[in-house]
Amino acid sequence: MADAENGSPAPKPGEAPKPKSETSEPAAPKNRGNRALVGVLVIVGAVALALVASRYFGEAGKIGQSIVKTTKSTGAASIGGPFTLTDHNGKRVSDKDFAGKYLLVYFGYTYCPDVCPTGLTVISDALDQLGADAAKVQPLFITIDPHRDTPEQMKEYATYFHPSLIGLTGSDSEIAQVAKAYRIYYAKVENKDPDSDPEDYTVDHSAVTYLMGPKGGFLQHFSHSTDPETMARRIREAIKS
Ligand code: NI
Repeated sequence: MADAENGSPAPKPGEAPKPKSETSEPAAPKNRGNRALVGVLVIVGAVALALVASRYFGEAGKIGQSIVKTTKSTGAASIGGPFTLTDHNGKRVSDKDFAGKYLLVYFGYTYCPDVCPTGLTVISDALDQLGADAAKVQPLFITIDPHRDTPEQMKEYATYFHPSLIGLTGSDSEIAQVAKAYRIYYAKVENKDPDSDPEDYTVDHSAVTYLMGPKGGFLQHFSHSTDPETMARRIREAIKS
């Protein structure tokens, strides 16, 4: 903008331009006629500025409100989404295969030293406490380490925790896509010992359990510290509501 180039910053909308200095102010009018004309021009200018400002801020206000509304209405829907992966029997499955069931979705990996075993034990205990309602719930364990977590590896691990737990793996890009949809963070951590086996690494990852509705929508999440009793109670309440 020309104003910025000549060293005088452009005034913000609704803010009167500041005079550069005392000397740049208009010279005093020489007679009453000029004085009156300047007065009229000042009033006309002020009204025009007020109209522009009210229009500008009115529009900005509306845009702000629409952003808030959009965020509120899509906040819940933005967790989860369609996926196609390979189950622990080597079969290709998609989210549609689980339609009509509540999903308990947990991301992790079979070589996880302690976080995943704890999380999956809580899920398993909660399922046992649900009794007959457990039939309406499909627990899914999605690996974020597909390189080591083959379907065979996933089957042995998942069924160890609970007979209904299904392990899901896939290509790097399939896993990246589903993890992103569920807002799961994961990052490989190499073993710092130079003599170690390159396959001996860990993976940092979010430890959160999602409860998804029978139509695929996000219902709620459970943090790593949730106990099985609380998880079972909240799942039962979700099924009944
Ligand atoms: Ni883990």
